[in-house]
Amino acid sequence: MKKIFAMTAAAALLGATGAASAQTVNVICSVQAEWCNMIATVYARTTGVKLNMSLKGSGEALAQLIAEKENPKTDVWFGGTGDPHLQAAESGLTLEYKSPSLPQLYPWAQQQAQQSGWKTVGIYSGPLGFGYNTELLAKKKLAVPRSWADLLKPEYKGDIQVANPASSGTAYTMIATLVQLMGEDKAFEYLKGLHKNVGQYTRSGTGPIKAVARGETAVSISFVHDAPQERMQGFPVETVTPSEGTGAEIGSMSIIKGARNLAEAKKFYEWALTPQAQTFGAAAKQFQLPSNKATPVDGNVPDFKKIKMIDYDYAKYGASGERKRLIARWEKDVNSLPR
Ligand code: F6P
Repeated sequence: MKKIFAMTAAAALLGATGAASAQTVNVICSVQAEWCNMIATVYARTTGVKLNMSLKGSGEALAQLIAEKENPKTDVWFGGTGDPHLQAAESGLTLEYKSPSLPQLYPWAQQQAQQSGWKTVGIYSGPLGFGYNTELLAKKKLAVPRSWADLLKPEYKGDIQVANPASSGTAYTMIATLVQLMGEDKAFEYLKGLHKNVGQYTRSGTGPIKAVARGETAVSISFVHDAPQERMQGFPVETVTPSEGTGAEIGSMSIIKGARNLAEAKKFYEWALTPQAQTFGAAAKQFQLPSNKATPVDGNVPDFKKIKMIDYDYAKYGASGERKRLIARWEKDVNSLPR
């Protein structure tokens, strides 16, 4: 009798553990921590499913997925620039999944899905520009930079921050934008010139705008949507987009091939595409343009119609070979130079 009871208890325990592990989704989250934490809290409260969040920049997330390819520990990759999501798709790291919600999304988000063979999808978009500290520029008697060309002026020496393209999707978006604007060789000449003025390359794409906000540097190359959050905290930060034109990211989401919690991963993915879930970006003071056409657009979201945008070739610059080659060229031709 005792033995039967022990066995039943063990089975119940096993069952409970099994159920508990089925109620978990392992997520790499490549937006800012406040948004990741907010969706984890809300999702757990409303569904009972735990999101195990690991925060990583876009390039770092891709590196982790490559490292765990044979034995994936991640179920969903949420957010981060679209180029490395396309690279992950091409490299067979992510799962083909055609969401029934696709028709609810803007064409750019659907195009991202289609170009990846339905292995990723656009969840938000945002333009690249410059952030600047109004007080620091005034104190240093520096003008607001309004063009890519302006950033090469010697007066900005040491006062510009941008992230490192190996870890940051923001910085890779900058390189791909410049290559499309100028042609590759001229873009690399430009990047060498810019290198002389860069005080620091940060790991994360949002590092430079935070440094601008805190007066550690005067200018950053950043996504425009990352500035209002700093301003709301009282920091003197403004943004501008370069007069020659600029690129935009298609922040993306992918399900990992071999995901251990596939059914729950799909449920979370579907939830993340709903207008309700997409309002949590702005609620966490992150102001990318949400991809679901029915999601209300916060007044802080940059107005693309007022910005000179290039026709960014996502398929080309998200291709594995191209992305690796451009980052390697930047390491060799630019980052190795003295400043
Ligand atoms: O979360 C803010 C953000 O700018 C996103 O819009 C973008 O996808 C991500 O950061 C890129 O981060 P990183 O440059 O570190 O890869």
